[in-house]
Amino acid sequence: MSSTIVVTGGAGFIGSHTAQVLLGRGESVAVIDEVNDYYDVRVKRENIAELVKLGARFYEGDLCDRAFVEGVWEAENNPQRVVHMAARAGVRPSIEDPVVYVKSNVEATTVLLDIAKEKGSQSFVFASSSSVYGGSKKTVFGEHDVVDFPVSPYAATKKACELVAHTYHHLYGMNIAALRFFTVFGPRGRPDMAPLKFVDKISRGVPIQQYGDGSSSRDYTYIDDIVDGVLRSLDRPMGFQVYNLGNGKPTRLKDFIKLVEKEVGKPAIIELLPDQPGDVPRTCADISKAQALLDYNPKTPFADGIKKLVAWYNEHHHNKAAAAADDDDDDDDDDVSDATLSDDAKP
Ligand SMILES: NC(=O)c1ccc[n+]([C@@H]2O[C@H](COP(=O)([O-])OP(=O)(O)OC[C@H]3O[C@@H](n4cnc5c(N)ncnc54)[C@H](O)[C@@H]3O)[C@@H](O)[C@H]2O)c1
Repeated sequence: MSSTIVVTGGAGFIGSHTAQVLLGRGESVAVIDEVNDYYDVRVKRENIAELVKLGARFYEGDLCDRAFVEGVWEAENNPQRVVHMAARAGVRPSIEDPVVYVKSNVEATTVLLDIAKEKGSQSFVFASSSSVYGGSKKTVFGEHDVVDFPVSPYAATKKACELVAHTYHHLYGMNIAALRFFTVFGPRGRPDMAPLKFVDKISRGVPIQQYGDGSSSRDYTYIDDIVDGVLRSLDRPMGFQVYNLGNGKPTRLKDFIKLVEKEVGKPAIIELLPDQPGDVPRTCADISKAQALLDYNPKTPFADGIKKLVAWYNEHHHNKAAAAADDDDDDDDDDVSDATLSDDAKP
């Protein structure tokens, strides 16, 4: 029996951090990623190069290609643990091109589940999203809330993945955890998301947009805390579980901007825009289930996370982020729909 852990999406933000921590604890790690151009592929290639240096094996290809994925299982001697982070992320591009989202999220997840089932998977964890709560009027989101009314193709694909996963648990007894991440940020973060965009734009003196008076708030989760939750769920397979992995402590938009200004050492140039219809004033993860079952306890206050992000940006990323942000001024989000936050603030 192989002890290899397959990490999909390992060229991306959360997958690369997860693979790195797994390698650090001495695990054998096989990374799968198609390295698509959703954002600058140089960032992804660098992530992969680092992981390979640390001992990971890298397989480049599309998870929808069953023969390719079966080949990985064969080469890796039938891995029995899977961390599935690969997906098309982002709400707005999913509205532009829903088919690619259904393929890369629902079809790919089904292929992976099916192969994992055939090969006797012991623990399969995958990235869902707080986007599934998008239509909710609640301000604290719990796993038992009804999320049958998604408001974007992206959210619909994440909910669909949860449904397919539950079916595999029901039919084959697989241990599967669906992890609803709340706005993840930190070093090597996605360049299309607000934290890195704000740091980059404020550093460069480029204006940011703020919708409303800045009193809206949302739950941001630092990458190390997310990785900790991913590994805890991988290490404690418990049938089928859905977990919110958030911080549980929302931050107001104006405090977010102030913090970035303080850490960057420059004032933000803010374009004030009116509230948008359907604004959600506050979003927050109820993380009590993950706390109770996984001993998940996020340790990084938002301010500390922003400090670390800025330190990383100053050291490693200045020029690349600038290039990425210039290429992509139309920002996209990956999380619950919250028009109170500016386009930039939408993660
Ligand atoms: N970052 C967040 O705040 C956030 C919030 C909620 C959910 N999520 C989910 O967490 C996961 C990781 O997100 P991320 O921010 O690291 O995104 P990311 O875009 O940085 O990484 C995703 C990776 O998956 C790869 N990929 C996509 N489709 C593939 C396919 N068909 N075959 C092989 N590889 C494929 C991409 O090339 C990319 O490297 C995703 O499932 C995302 O939907 C992220």
